[in-house]
Amino acid sequence: MKVYTLNHRSIVATVFVCSLIIVDVESAALIEAAGETGSHEGGIDLTAISSYHQIVKWLGHISETYPSTVQIHDLGRTAENRSILVVEIGRAAEKPETSSPADARKQLVTRPSVFLDAGTHGREQITVTIALRLISKLIGAITRNETSQFTEVKWYITPLVNPDGYEYSRNIARSWRKNRSTHPGSSCTGVDINRNWRVHWDSDEPERVPKDTAGSAGNKILSSVAWLWSSFLHPENTVRQLGTMTPCSELYGGPSPFSEFESRSLSQFILNLTRVPAERLESCFSLHSMTGNQELLFPYGYKIDRVPDYEALNSLARDMTREMAKVAGRQYKYGGVAETLYQSSGLQCDWIYSVAGVNRTFVVEVADNFRIAPAGLISKAFGELWAALDVLLKA
Ligand SMILES: *[C@@H]1O[C@H](CO)[C@@H](O)[C@H](O)[C@H]1NC(C)=O
Ligand SMILES: *[C@@H]1O[C@H](CO)[C@@H](O)[C@H](O)[C@H]1NC(C)=O
Ligand SMILES: *[C@@H]1O[C@H](CO)[C@@H](O)[C@H](O)[C@H]1NC(C)=O
Ligand SMILES: *[C@@H]1O[C@H](CO)[C@@H](O)[C@H](O)[C@H]1NC(C)=O
Ligand SMILES: *[C@@H]1O[C@H](CO)[C@@H](O)[C@H](O)[C@H]1NC(C)=O
Repeated sequence: MKVYTLNHRSIVATVFVCSLIIVDVESAALIEAAGETGSHEGGIDLTAISSYHQIVKWLGHISETYPSTVQIHDLGRTAENRSILVVEIGRAAEKPETSSPADARKQLVTRPSVFLDAGTHGREQITVTIALRLISKLIGAITRNETSQFTEVKWYITPLVNPDGYEYSRNIARSWRKNRSTHPGSSCTGVDINRNWRVHWDSDEPERVPKDTAGSAGNKILSSVAWLWSSFLHPENTVRQLGTMTPCSELYGGPSPFSEFESRSLSQFILNLTRVPAERLESCFSLHSMTGNQELLFPYGYKIDRVPDYEALNSLARDMTREMAKVAGRQYKYGGVAETLYQSSGLQCDWIYSVAGVNRTFVVEVADNFRIAPAGLISKAFGELWAALDVLLKA
């Protein structure tokens, strides 16, 4: 057993990390490769919650260790000066000897790709470890030259979308959800990054791709009438939507769409992927966690209406949840966000579906208890995610 000190300023900072609890072989092999068994250098515990600093260090280490498989994209700095990193993972081209690892990697671009993100909400810490585990397992499979649906695609994984909220949740307030921005005229801090996307941001904009700022006076009146009518029909959603306009609410959507660096930079990265002709971004997956029901969701979130390819997405979700249930006996509910969970505006999944045009867009809500995450919670949810991705990639 080893004792690591995570945070010098905190009294509750000492954790005991037992090497035996590293359960999956792939991860263990990679950790070994990354130097975990010898020293703390580059190592990470994939059954626990790691600090932002440990995560960045580990990602740097694996990208140096496997340069032809892993490449890190730094999207820039948050308000508290932390990086948002996208980890690109893919098999190197068939004849690496003809070129440098970087050139070999460019030849990957014709393969379909999958984008996956986690850690949008600070307190949903376990989703970050689950994404790191996915990174580890994928690298293991690729470096062992395995051929499967997992190694045939290219991956873009953002394990920690909201590092400021994550660190605040880890060190100061466990239940923190938003980022750590402050806005003039408000004493409250933070924006819910998953209410800040430029898509139906003020909840009832009729356009498929909303305008940069609020529309004409006529549109505003129409939109207000529509809003009043929907408030009458669905008062519970109105309360949530008012929350997105209130800076002190947990669901505050920000002063304007894409006011937040986190949502803005991620959206640009995803749009870039859809604009490079050789890229084929086929699926997007967002990891969230909650107590209560577990869910596998797809757009729309801003309205109850069904997406044009509802039947295809719903049957895919049915197959995915059937396989997920075999992992730990947990039945995930599935369906559109608004019809299954609740209606909300400015959602990432609606933006990816409607604006970026990626129709296989899913949100998974894994089981969490928002206390210290037991390793078992992470392992089960990771197994379920892997089963879901397996179905998705074969479809
Ligand atoms: C932000 O972090 C980077 C890397 O740790 C550091 O080089 C830079 O000086 C920091 N910037 C500010 C404004 O603190
Ligand atoms: C995987 O394939 C590459 C290229 O053919 C080879 O150099 C490498 O040794 C193989 N790795 C394993 C673990 O088999
Ligand atoms: C959150 O929002 C603020 C204000 O919009 C933005 O400037 C910042 O980059 C975001 N992130 C943090 C950590 O504040
Ligand atoms: C998107 O692509 C443009 C043009 O190639 C580049 O300047 C920009 O940095 C990219 N943005 C992201 C977030 O990848
Ligand atoms: C997504 O779009 C493609 C191309 O239009 C279509 O073939 C497919 O059925 C759609 N839905 C799903 C869930 O893949």
